[in-house]
Amino acid sequence: MNRRELILSAGAASVCGLLGGAALGAANKPPTTDLKLQAARYRLRNTETGGLVSLSADNPPPVLTANQGELTVFNVENGLDEFTAMHWHGIRLPNAMDGVPYLTQFPIAGGESFEYRFAPPDAGTYWYHPHCMTMTQMARGLTGVLIVKENDDPGFDADQILNLRDFRLDENDELLPAYSLRRAARAGTLGNVLTANWLTNPVYDHPAGGIVRLRLVNSDTTRIYQLIINGGPSTVIAWDGHPIEVSLPEPTKEMPLVLGPGQRADLAVAMPSGEGQTIEVISMRSNGNNTMATLRATGGDQGRKLSDILPLPPNPVSKPDLSNAETHEFVFGWSPEGVVPKDGFCGTLGRTFWSINRMPWAGDAADSQGPLAALRLGKSYIFRFRNESPNQHPVHLHGLAFIPLRSNKRKLAANWTDTALLLKDEIMEVALVADNPGDWAFHCHVIEHQKTGLTGVIRVE
Ligand code: C2O
Ligand code: CU
Ligand code: CU
Repeated sequence: MNRRELILSAGAASVCGLLGGAALGAANKPPTTDLKLQAARYRLRNTETGGLVSLSADNPPPVLTANQGELTVFNVENGLDEFTAMHWHGIRLPNAMDGVPYLTQFPIAGGESFEYRFAPPDAGTYWYHPHCMTMTQMARGLTGVLIVKENDDPGFDADQILNLRDFRLDENDELLPAYSLRRAARAGTLGNVLTANWLTNPVYDHPAGGIVRLRLVNSDTTRIYQLIINGGPSTVIAWDGHPIEVSLPEPTKEMPLVLGPGQRADLAVAMPSGEGQTIEVISMRSNGNNTMATLRATGGDQGRKLSDILPLPPNPVSKPDLSNAETHEFVFGWSPEGVVPKDGFCGTLGRTFWSINRMPWAGDAADSQGPLAALRLGKSYIFRFRNESPNQHPVHLHGLAFIPLRSNKRKLAANWTDTALLLKDEIMEVALVADNPGDWAFHCHVIEHQKTGLTGVIRVE
């Protein structure tokens, strides 16, 4: 069976699943959200910017929600005249729903739709973005937040999502080219307009003296944020979706919260007690700090304390058996010269600068390349990430959660994650249980790196 046939038969299998579910009766029809890729205009800074891509009419991509463990349908229609595929970052879903072109589905052509259906096993803060035309569609705005709700309300007074990302605009607020090859070969291309929910320093009102669940999502293509919370106490309660098991320091100037592309952090933040007092979420940068968003206290004092919030219930992630874990090493570094990535409708930067284990990604195409490693279903593994480059790489694995063990550079907090920020020259070991079968994309989440070689596949069978 070739890959195309495989994809078609996987599609047929999910249709059977659908009919089986429908036979149980209309009452069991899963919640369904129709989403349509479309061109958008929006005021990101001073005047409207055209040429954006969203799933909402002239508005940012919507915040999507699902309930933990409950089957949910997202029906994605492609209203553009370029291909796409939607990926649900951090969700441990069935491989056929993962939205990776050629690996798990055929790219969605303009005018076509694809029905994504999955029951997210883990509660927390996740996000979605295209995995076909990734560079251009993400740079034009197509990144959104997906919240998986806990089955029991954790008891916050308010919820605040901040989808953090840059746009690259000229002085007339028109989009600039998203990348340059020179920068793709180095740290990647940064934007010049920093936004939260497509706004520059939005102000959100929340109950004075209340506890806010602040969900920080780095959906940028390049930027590594150094974030601090100014104006009141805060504590990190979840990391990359999962409730923390090892506590993290309160984000301060001395020790900011470092959030690489793809990463998320949930914080409990105590609002000031006085009406009109504010909390600022600040991005610290070498060329000056930037307030990403402001939370303003309103109404009478709720008088709540951070300690009023109970820990979030743990997600059902299997613990690796380290005594029986086989180690696989992955080297992130330069690629041989002159390799040209294949193009199968999903866009390419036309050049290759990076590789994993000296195997630069052959491109998003039907005849791409085989897995970097094949894992046995249910077995535990240690992955050793070795960064042989002077740049940082947020290393992301689809379909599985992993836990950091150790590093040659620093002490790592053992919290579940799907994206580990690998420092310059760092060697990091992480562990996982290969409990979700399929071919899973494995790549750097600096999109210019991903699209110029720093991508591979991990097979679980
Ligand atoms: Cu955010 Cu391949 O993923
Ligand atoms: Cu992902
Ligand atoms: Cu990278």
